Amino acid sequence: MSSSLTDRGTYSLANAAEQARQRFASLEACFDGVTIRHLEEMGVAPGWSCLEVGGGGGSIARWLAERVGPRGRVVVTDIDPQRLRVELPNSEVRRHDITRDPLERETFDLVHERLVLVHLPERDRALDRMITALKPGGWLLIEDFDITWMRLTPACEPADALLFRKVIGSFHEILTRAGVDPAYGRRFHTVLRERGLVDVHAEGHIEIAAGGSPAWRLHQANVEQLRDRLVGSGLLDDDEIERFQRLVGSPEFSSNYHPFVSARGRRPGRARRDRGSQDGLGSPNGTSRESFEEEAGGRSTDGRRNSGVAAHQARATNKSADARLFELIEGYKGSQVVAAVAELGVADVLAAGPTSTEEVARVCGADPDAMLRLLRCGATVGLVEEVTAEQFSLTEMGTYLRRGERSLRDAATGLTGPTHWQPWSRLADGVRTGQPTAAQTLGSDVMSYAAAHPEEGARV
Ligand SMILES: C[S@@+](CC[C@H](N)C(=O)[O-])C[C@H]1O[C@@H](n2cnc3c(N)ncnc32)[C@H](O)[C@@H]1O
Repeated sequence: MSSSLTDRGTYSLANAAEQARQRFASLEACFDGVTIRHLEEMGVAPGWSCLEVGGGGGSIARWLAERVGPRGRVVVTDIDPQRLRVELPNSEVRRHDITRDPLERETFDLVHERLVLVHLPERDRALDRMITALKPGGWLLIEDFDITWMRLTPACEPADALLFRKVIGSFHEILTRAGVDPAYGRRFHTVLRERGLVDVHAEGHIEIAAGGSPAWRLHQANVEQLRDRLVGSGLLDDDEIERFQRLVGSPEFSSNYHPFVSARGRRPGRARRDRGSQDGLGSPNGTSRESFEEEAGGRSTDGRRNSGVAAHQARATNKSADARLFELIEGYKGSQVVAAVAELGVADVLAAGPTSTEEVARVCGADPDAMLRLLRCGATVGLVEEVTAEQFSLTEMGTYLRRGERSLRDAATGLTGPTHWQPWSRLADGVRTGQPTAAQTLGSDVMSYAAAHPEEGARV
């Protein structure tokens, strides 16, 4: 078996396979009604801007495009869009990997995925990116199976039931090895609430499907598409697959199908809410890589790539008052990003031209993963821009952090250091008492403190 057949993270059911046509037809027949009911309940209306992730055959994107009309817009993505038939003038088809390709922020009234996240080992990251793409107040709808929730109980002869379970189990084994989370659907409620979504609602759909119905034709196509892997891995032989195909194709057969869970939630408020505890800006050494990375310059609505500065400027305008206030509240994070870029000497490394994150990390003596997150934060505040994946260059603003004449590097490190932020952190006390806060926080006045800490004092 070639390694690509077992690689974790490789999407197992590629759209190029001839069986994909049947699979998409079955998915549409089985689940479009469920999905559309949820979309209608969520109030999708003319003028909405929608993102359909991993659109497959495109039926839901087409429905959305009709629904939102000429004033609305639908972006439909897929890592392999060859089967997407979405040709309405208000829709855009994008070849796009939801786990890593640039994505607009705070742009869509609705983001939807069906049977995509369940396949992705990096599903948490993909989900965070989808949420970041929502406007405040926008709706997310995610839909996936939970194949562990209830046992499939086919109505057939015991020997056939055994074969049926063996084939279904083997199919799931192959998918699980590739990174599918078989119980993903059951966690949806928690997964959405943990991310701060509101009006969360999750429910399951279970069909008792007869042999030959779209649900079992879906499974016939699934098993056929993975036949080489199933046989090659020794889990099944061809004869067992043939018998399974006949069994689930027979009108006498019936069985319950896996619970299909739809969960929706709304991004709260009108203000940007992605900068709270989940925000990478708040945890450059922490685990929140996803939202950290979202800070990179994205694409403008016309699809062109924003530079870090342009993206920053775009965000600086058109903001509601509460969003601007929230930025002030979290302003210290931006200045600490500037300080870290300055202190680590990132600007000097990038002065040579576009440089890979690995190289910047190596020269600066930093952890490559944390450096990537820092650089992407640096892109949001306009210091650097990501020219190609994980390759950064310096912006005009960033050049002021280089060592040398007209450098603001010392200011960036000194004015963001404890000599300053400690007294400022007690500002309300100072106003209350009328007394300088330095003595309280530094143990002396600022000048004495600077003298006792020459490394810091020299820069302020
Ligand atoms: C099981 S199909 C579901 C298709 C469609 N959403 C539906 O329910 O009819 C999964 C789809 O996700 C796409 N896909 C897989 N990995 C992806 C990724 N990382 N980013 C975007 N799309 C992806 C596949 O190419 C495929 O079209």
